[in-house]
Amino acid sequence: MRAVNAELKDIDKVQIHPTGLVHPDEPDNKVKFLAAEALRGVGGIMLDCDGRRFVNELGRRDYVSETMCKHDRAPYRLVLNGKASKEIEWHCKHYCGRKLMKQLQSGEALAKEMQIQPQQLEQTFKEFNMSMETKRDPYGREYFQNGPWTMDDIFHVAIITPVRHYCMGGLHVNTECQVLSKQGPIPGLYCSGEIMGGTHGANRLGGSSLLDCVVFGRIAGLSSCRYLMEVFVSRAAGGALLGAGASATDGTVHQGTVDVPQDSTNAEVSTQTGEKDTSHSEVKRHVFTLSDVAKHNREDDCWVVVNGEVLNVSSFLNEHPGGKQAILLFAGRDATEEFNMLHKPDVVSKYCPECIVGVLDNVSSSKASLAKMHL
Ligand SMILES: Cc1cc2nc3c(=O)[nH]c(=O)nc-3n(C[C@H](O)[C@H](O)[C@H](O)COP(=O)(O)OP(=O)(O)OC[C@H]3O[C@@H](n4cnc5c(N)ncnc54)[C@H](O)[C@@H]3O)c2cc1C
Ligand code: HEM
Repeated sequence: MRAVNAELKDIDKVQIHPTGLVHPDEPDNKVKFLAAEALRGVGGIMLDCDGRRFVNELGRRDYVSETMCKHDRAPYRLVLNGKASKEIEWHCKHYCGRKLMKQLQSGEALAKEMQIQPQQLEQTFKEFNMSMETKRDPYGREYFQNGPWTMDDIFHVAIITPVRHYCMGGLHVNTECQVLSKQGPIPGLYCSGEIMGGTHGANRLGGSSLLDCVVFGRIAGLSSCRYLMEVFVSRAAGGALLGAGASATDGTVHQGTVDVPQDSTNAEVSTQTGEKDTSHSEVKRHVFTLSDVAKHNREDDCWVVVNGEVLNVSSFLNEHPGGKQAILLFAGRDATEEFNMLHKPDVVSKYCPECIVGVLDNVSSSKASLAKMHL
């Protein structure tokens, strides 16, 4: 971008999110999982190393992160009581599975985990219950869910730290999503999404980035198509390259398409697809036991079971949108419960149908279900 003198906007505006989850085994890992805002939304509280609250947990991201830094009493913890945990059960299960969160059976156990006196924790709960009752919180919290807090409860706890989350700054664009230099729009260069600067001011609000991607993605798509059409129109001699509806020069995007000479490519593709489909359905009939699956428990040879289907995900691991570690935790095992908590039912057929190598035998399937029922 520098090479074409693209201008930047708000480049110093970087959002720091307060609840990056710290993995106890790798606290210095530069990449952290993010705890969903919903964990605080259902009533989670944030405690400092002394077991005290210090902030309005529901405040804006910049305020909460800044308060954590100023207060300077790390490690900070995000704590959910039993009712709050129940309301957001699958998040808690997922984070526990990844060892980013712990479930503790009492306030006493929580105090021990935090290396503080149980009396201190009890005092914190009392004060928070008082804030809830009187609707007057020393930190300004206005919304309270899933109280009261008592020591004889189940808790979920995670260590949290502020993390770099989003860059509000980026490339300077006009309303057509054309990237600007000091001299004006740079011909043929469009952008949208997080690389674009200036949409969110100094502090993006939660949930609005994906909206931004969709809205400005469409504008950038339309603008760049319009530009391409104009280039084609001006270059094509007598419109030979263009379909009938695309010869106007008014910059409008038309339905007409670029005519590609007919050759055998399409036929070849469909034949290959047909062949692949046949072999795919043959492979799918293989029946495996859980012990068969258990042998494939390495990164370079990784099978998992999902909803009764046996998947060889070895070559999909690096493409998995949730990261390879998410799947590797279940290498050689039945991942159905965790999978169903996080995915739409059609993701396997949509993104990696070729991973399906067979089905789980009935005995293994029913054993797996029984094991789950006894959990
Ligand atoms: C943990 C987390 C949770 C979030 N949750 C939410 C949420 O709930 N709601 C919300 O609205 N926003 C959320 N955001 C913000 C939002 O996800 C991002 O702002 C958005 O996904 C950015 O999309 P993008 O397409 O602009 O950029 P990206 O998704 O970053 O895509 C850029 C792509 O370009 C590729 N790339 C980079 N360099 C090159 C190169 N030189 N050549 C080729 N390719 C390259 C990258 O690999 C990447 O695939 C979250 C962000 C994070 C980190
Ligand atoms: C093999 C087939 C799989 C496919 C095609 C697949 C696909 C995807 C896709 C598309 C996403 C992005 C979010 C979404 O659209 O739902 C995702 C996220 C994720 N997947 Fe998978 N996945 C597979 C297997 C698994 C397995 C076996 C696990 C572990 C049990 C897993 C754990 C996760 C996690 C943790 C996320 C991130 C969720 C988040 O960030 O909120 N996936 N996966």
